[in-house]
Amino acid sequence: MSAHSFDGSYPQLRMRRLRRTPMLRRLMAETTLNASDLILPVFVREGIDVPQQILSLPRVLQHTIGSLVQQARELVVLGVPAMMLFGVPSQKDPRGSGAYDPDGIVQVALREVRNAVGDDLVLIADLCIDEYTDHGHCGLLTESGEVDNDATIEIYGQIACVQAEAGADIVAPSGMMDGQVSAIRSALDKNGHHETAILAYAAKYASSFYGPFRDAVDVTIADGGDRRGYQQDFSNSREALREVALDISEGADMVMVKPALPYLDIISKVRSTFNVPVAAYQVSGEYSMICAAAENGWLDRESAAIETLTAIKRAGADQILTYFAAEIALRLRS
Ligand code: PBG
Repeated sequence: MSAHSFDGSYPQLRMRRLRRTPMLRRLMAETTLNASDLILPVFVREGIDVPQQILSLPRVLQHTIGSLVQQARELVVLGVPAMMLFGVPSQKDPRGSGAYDPDGIVQVALREVRNAVGDDLVLIADLCIDEYTDHGHCGLLTESGEVDNDATIEIYGQIACVQAEAGADIVAPSGMMDGQVSAIRSALDKNGHHETAILAYAAKYASSFYGPFRDAVDVTIADGGDRRGYQQDFSNSREALREVALDISEGADMVMVKPALPYLDIISKVRSTFNVPVAAYQVSGEYSMICAAAENGWLDRESAAIETLTAIKRAGADQILTYFAAEIALRLRS
């Protein structure tokens, strides 16, 4: 038998050969994080003259229109393709009317940013009313205080239309109401917005990791309430696949899993089951945990950010919403 034939004895396997130098590791990388994978969530607040810091979300700002436009131009330079807008209105009311007012803060911001950057940035509008309601829920309430699903999705349709008119490329319903995607699709189509896409927050869990976000948008849920009646239970994964299947059948162009890092199994299952773009949202609490540990010197901020974002991509996310987007895009360039 020749020395090269297969005789059942293997050469000693050495996994380390391909890890020896930085360039070998680069060549072998199965997953590479790019600026083009990232979407920056941004907050724009009505009635302020200077951007405001958010205590529980370090380095993230409540923008003025002016500073938001500046941020948008910076993303274009950095090669980050998209931003997702959240509004903080100066007045809240039971119906969240600032969300569907054509002159509401997000609509004004969409027009200004579009004016400034044209099509060099994809503009995604979060579509929900919790930032705009005085009770802090994502839907309208009945007299007995229940979230009224069907009345809410009618309002969502109106919001989608004003956002599309103001220049949103994509609307992103985050309220987890049943039937919201089809209500929004038919409202958009009825008003001629056939080109406006829908990114459905399809598998959105009721999560403690949204804490800092609620500071960012000044939301307190009335009477110590929570969102477990409409957002998903973190014990479940098969249910997430049903949610995603429903949203796709209702017309979602893309779907989202949220939060990201504690839900990598969900991202992976959604990716392997469906054939639409899958986004994942590294939410405020995921970001702030890294910030807080880094501020204490307990871990390195940038490496932890890149590792978590790469893990989210490795699990199957095609796009990642992250408060690190600009910072990490800059780092990836250098
Ligand atoms: C609801 C909404 C929330 C987030 C995005 N959209 C909060 C919630 O559901 O309570 C959270 C995002 C984050 O934590 O970064 N409109």
